[in-house]
Amino acid sequence: MQFHFIANEAVASTSARTLPVIDPSDGQPFDELQRGNAADIDAAVRAARRCFEGAWHRLGAAERGRLLYRLSQKIAEHVDELTLLEQRDCGKPVSQARADALALARYFEFYAGACDKLHGETIPYQDGYSVFTWREPHGVTGHIIPWNYPMQIFGRSVGGALAAGNACVVKPAEDACLSLLRVAQLAAEAGFPAGAINIVTGYGHEAGDALARHAGIDHISFTGSPRIGTLIQQLAAERHCPVTLELGGKSPQIVFGDADLGAALPVLVNAIVQNAGQTCSAGSRVLIQRDIYELLLERLGHAFEALRVGPAAMDLDVGPLIRQTQQQRVWDFLSDAQHAGIPMVAQGVVVDEAPESGFYQAPTLLRDVPPGHRLAQEEVFGPVLAAMPFGDEDDAVALANATPFGLAAGIWTTDGARQFRMARRVRAGQVFINNYGAGGGVELPFGGMKSSGYGREKGFEALYGFTTLKTVAVRHG
Ligand code: NAI
Ligand code: MG
Repeated sequence: MQFHFIANEAVASTSARTLPVIDPSDGQPFDELQRGNAADIDAAVRAARRCFEGAWHRLGAAERGRLLYRLSQKIAEHVDELTLLEQRDCGKPVSQARADALALARYFEFYAGACDKLHGETIPYQDGYSVFTWREPHGVTGHIIPWNYPMQIFGRSVGGALAAGNACVVKPAEDACLSLLRVAQLAAEAGFPAGAINIVTGYGHEAGDALARHAGIDHISFTGSPRIGTLIQQLAAERHCPVTLELGGKSPQIVFGDADLGAALPVLVNAIVQNAGQTCSAGSRVLIQRDIYELLLERLGHAFEALRVGPAAMDLDVGPLIRQTQQQRVWDFLSDAQHAGIPMVAQGVVVDEAPESGFYQAPTLLRDVPPGHRLAQEEVFGPVLAAMPFGDEDDAVALANATPFGLAAGIWTTDGARQFRMARRVRAGQVFINNYGAGGGVELPFGGMKSSGYGREKGFEALYGFTTLKTVAVRHG
């Protein structure tokens, strides 16, 4: 049985209700979570407020940095345990779960070093004044975390918020709580004061909704679906609470005829099959210049046919999807494609060892996807790659930008001037030239344009979002 983590203690929900923890590899429940409600959220917000106004506020920036660093070390010491939890809870192949745990440690290491380097400015002003700015924490920040990368998104969001001096209330996704509950315990062991990190588990429409409505929350970070992102903004607008939103994408990987296809091929595939395609920045559209369209589709097809899907513990190319409704969602997209006559080029293979009751989906490559079709417009959040041809550079830009989203883009070309032109013209928060994702670097600001959201997480940039600026003008004559 798992409990909320409030003020450094394991706490049962006042609802006296639980929800099951399910292993996506076999679809079976193996643990239980507290089903948090508004009263639990309120207790967590109060604990965070007490911490923010007490122990946390008095701590110097360097001391705060040392705490974050100690937590990063603790996480590094417990990578095997966290990997196992994540593998079981989220169905991540072992090496992908491990990469997430290591990234989490790295987030806390990076933000540990940033704590005492976040400062304001002095501003030249009229004679007789001295003017300066302070970067102050918002206070209590709320973090609504999705299930696709719980550890990484906790790291980028909570790591940045703590570094900036906020106390945090976290509502993880109902399908992905175990690793984060363990990390909160590790934080307490590392010496974080009670209330700095609080975790309330439960459903989005209950615990999540209560968090988004709570008057004691001074800033909300949300990563998830555009629909819930809209709801969060509406609730936050009622009390003018600032939000940072990351709402996914339909990111293009654009391949020109002069590209190094040998280098591009494994990256193009990985960008859509990593984490079974359940990645906000997945490269889910491949736009291919017409002169190499057939050639590249053939090579991509062979690569897809070689992909193996199976239980997380087997550590194959692809694990199961998170839950049955996500599997159904992917099926719906694929059956729409079939009805629209969109040709399927190739599919990977679900291995025989994969239990029937697990949530498996073979990676699928589709071609000639019409730009207006929902497979070219909406996030599938599964291992489905939509290929379409383009003519020239203008055509590539128009196609790349022709979705409501703008999170990431990959551009493959050996023409240096074109690399810059394309990087300028593509509307996306991150642009990758001759790579995709750049290894995920925690240092690199991340976030979207258009319906992909606003505000930035990761890197030093995130700290500006987790603080508010105060201008102080002293009249001294
Ligand atoms: P979701 O947006 O419902 O869930 C994300 C988080 O929001 C979870 O922690 C959930 O508990 C919480 N939440 C849900 N309803 C809420 C509410 N009314 N108030 C406050 N919090 C609430 O996403 P879901 O249903 O799990 O996935 C659906 C689709 O959303 C996916 O297929 C994918 O396309 C997209 N998605 C995108 C993510 C990204 O990384 N950008 C992450 C997760 C989902
Ligand atoms: Mg689970």
